[in-house]
Amino acid sequence: MDRSEAVLRELKLYPQWGRRNQPAPVVAEQCVPITVEVEAIAPAAVVVPAPQADKLNWPELKQRVRDCTACKLRAGCTQTVFGVGDEQAEWLFVGEGPGADEDTQGEPFVGQAGKLLDNMLLAIKLKRGKNVYIANIVKCRPPNNRTPQADEIATCLPYLQRQIELIKPKLIVALGKTAATALLGRDAVLGSLRGTLHDYCGIPLVVTYHPAYLLRSPLEKAKAWQDLCLAMRARHGEA
Ligand code: URA
Repeated sequence: MDRSEAVLRELKLYPQWGRRNQPAPVVAEQCVPITVEVEAIAPAAVVVPAPQADKLNWPELKQRVRDCTACKLRAGCTQTVFGVGDEQAEWLFVGEGPGADEDTQGEPFVGQAGKLLDNMLLAIKLKRGKNVYIANIVKCRPPNNRTPQADEIATCLPYLQRQIELIKPKLIVALGKTAATALLGRDAVLGSLRGTLHDYCGIPLVVTYHPAYLLRSPLEKAKAWQDLCLAMRARHGEA
């Protein structure tokens, strides 16, 4: 048994199988401005002024996030969690927001969900930090791990947008509904976003389940594997 087969068995994703017919990519006409995205997520949301991040370099952006108090989340968390990995990565994985472990350690996906994410990466022959960058939609832990609110997402999103501009990934994998809807600028059930190649400002984007959801619903791992296969095909220009 080779290593990737062993990993897939561990994930309960073996034997592998894939889709026969790939749906056509959905391509956004242009990069969607943030106010549109927020309204799409929650039409009634109050749109707060978003921090300016569009010209910052890496050190400036990291400092800006570290110093940020632009929304109410910062008061309730230990530290901001900027993101981790290869700053020229081809693969970008985006989660929702830090949990308790991430809040303590200052790094995304270091708890149980992070272990599963690491295994998902291994299953497609990737490794945290090597050609992979991991970030979240919001940089501060929401209280009791609640879903970030629309105004918090709107406030924090420019930081991720700037990270994406600096990284220039070749593929984005949105982990869960919060990441998918924030990046795509429209609300939808996660199931309806899966299985299609989306577009974020010219970068192909694949939607899959959040690893924390997969821990609660292990039977859905097979679908996550399908999504990772789509991501791999997209990365190799075959989707
Ligand atoms: N869940 C997330 O969405 N992000 C993390 O960093 C950890 C758990």
